[in-house]
Amino acid sequence: MRFEGITLAYGHKTILRNVSVVIEPGEFVFLIGGSGSGKTSFIRMLIGDFPPKGGMFIDNQGGNVYSYRSRAMARYRRNIGVIFQDFKLLKSKTVYENVAFAMEVSGYDDLHISARVPEVLSQVWLLSKTHQFIHELSGGEVQRVAIARALIHDPDVIIGDEPTGNLDPKNSAEIMKILTELHESGKTVIVATHDSAMVDRMKKRVIAFDEGQVVSDERGGGYSLAK
Ligand SMILES: Nc1ncnc2c1ncn2[C@@H]1O[C@H](COP(=O)(O)OP(=O)(O)OP(=O)(O)O)[C@@H](O)[C@H]1O
Ligand SMILES: [Mg+2]
Repeated sequence: MRFEGITLAYGHKTILRNVSVVIEPGEFVFLIGGSGSGKTSFIRMLIGDFPPKGGMFIDNQGGNVYSYRSRAMARYRRNIGVIFQDFKLLKSKTVYENVAFAMEVSGYDDLHISARVPEVLSQVWLLSKTHQFIHELSGGEVQRVAIARALIHDPDVIIGDEPTGNLDPKNSAEIMKILTELHESGKTVIVATHDSAMVDRMKKRVIAFDEGQVVSDERGGGYSLAK
């Protein structure tokens, strides 16, 4: 994915300023920066939520993603699994029902659903909790259900917006382990986070935002390096 001169404004407020970044297939990238620096906004650009000024281009696929027509955009988005900051799970339903519901909404039939749900639950080590209710799970397990839901289309790109935001160190480490496994299986993983210790430990590429600009981009970097 090649971003060229992404500039985004809400009204008179400029949120992203001339962001140009290339993310190669199969990379693991952290997005860091203070609150309000533009991480979530950049993620929305990755998903193609709405068109900014500038362009996003994908190898071997012609044209600016932001000018895709609705069908091409839907195809593009299907290849991205997003774990949102405020993941909305149905608390009074089971783990199985939550993932199955997301598949129903996407138009899968029952046969596909009953085959696919156990696959994605095993990718996040939750097979044994298939029939537990969400309100019976720990915070880390709930977050893993959110990851399972992001995997239903077997996307090439996984994006997490502070996926370990409300978790203790042990649960955070588990989530990062799962994201690492997904990365090792060939997926591109992009994670916005405030967890400096995690970023330092993992030695991945780190893109730092400040006031809507990319202020550093280091391979094998750490949180402190980018300050
Ligand atoms: N819908 C919106 N309308 C107007 N301003 C917005 C909107 N969404 C975000 N902003 C502003 O854009 C700026 C960047 O916000 P963004 O959510 O991208 O930051 P962030 O780096 O994700 O912060 P955090 O670490 O707190 O999640 C902030 O100043 C925010 O107030
Ligand atoms: Mg954010």
